[in-house]
Amino acid sequence: MPSASTSRGVALVTGASSGIGASFARRLASEGYELILVARRRERLEELARELRELGTEVEVLVSDLASDPGLRSVEERLHAEPRLAMLVNNAGFAHFGSFLDEEPDAAEAGLRVLALATVRLTRAALPAFLKAGTGTVINVSSRAAFGASAWFATYGAAKAYVNRFTLALADEFEPRGVRFTLVCPGNVETELFERAGVDPATLGGALTPEQVVDDALAALAKGERICVPGEGQRDRLLRQILPHRLVRKLSSFLSRLAGT
Ligand SMILES: NC(=O)c1ccc[n+]([C@@H]2O[C@H](COP(=O)([O-])OP(=O)(O)OC[C@H]3O[C@@H](n4cnc5c(N)ncnc54)[C@H](OP(=O)(O)O)[C@@H]3O)[C@@H](O)[C@H]2O)c1
Repeated sequence: MPSASTSRGVALVTGASSGIGASFARRLASEGYELILVARRRERLEELARELRELGTEVEVLVSDLASDPGLRSVEERLHAEPRLAMLVNNAGFAHFGSFLDEEPDAAEAGLRVLALATVRLTRAALPAFLKAGTGTVINVSSRAAFGASAWFATYGAAKAYVNRFTLALADEFEPRGVRFTLVCPGNVETELFERAGVDPATLGGALTPEQVVDDALAALAKGERICVPGEGQRDRLLRQILPHRLVRKLSSFLSRLAGT
């Protein structure tokens, strides 16, 4: 177990019960962080907590539905009460693929709450501890969909675009005061996300593993990069930066239509 002198502080990871969040938790534990794991599926969280405790990490499980007000408040309160908070990973999320009209209004609202509102409120709750310490890190897991405003996952893509703008604005405001922000925008990753959304991930191609996403995210953070697109080569990076937004949007809508139909 990292002692108080060797611990790098506490990292809170949302959506830690599977996929990218679980991978962040494992990696941050191996780097000496103590962890607070947040999601709804208690058994998954407890299983991961047991695994990490056996390796010597202090882990706390916080079961919370981030789409609900009481759930969100319980995580905010935990952040307020943590003086050794070093990192917040806003990662929880789910997606709807298909026509906007086929998305249940309640699910669309829950998506906005988990992807956008929770990111805003938890970041707000974490900032006082970071500013007091003069250091801290926020990693916001967004998506490539944020660049394209994609049809066939309209509310998801728009919520992720919100996360991008929000994160970059806060980076401008708070980096001079010691808080680092990294925005992680993966494409297709091998997790439960697509399966839970009823989409065959094979139709999307080019999947990364959650571990690759976390490797790239932490490498970008170490280099002080604000935007990380995991797995992106030099050429794709250049194309993303120079292609007209209209073309990027058309392309991503075309690709998401293929996946959603
Ligand atoms: N997979 C991809 O291709 C891909 C691509 C780009 C971006 N992303 C983003 O990566 C992030 C992680 O997704 P993933 O791919 O790792 O999928 P995943 O394996 O399905 O994990 C999603 C996580 O979010 C949690 N979550 C969902 N709704 C929640 C709620 N209401 N309250 C609390 N936790 C909730 C889930 O836990 P519970 O169900 O236990 O609550 C789970 O731990 C998401 O923000 C997603 O948008 C994924």
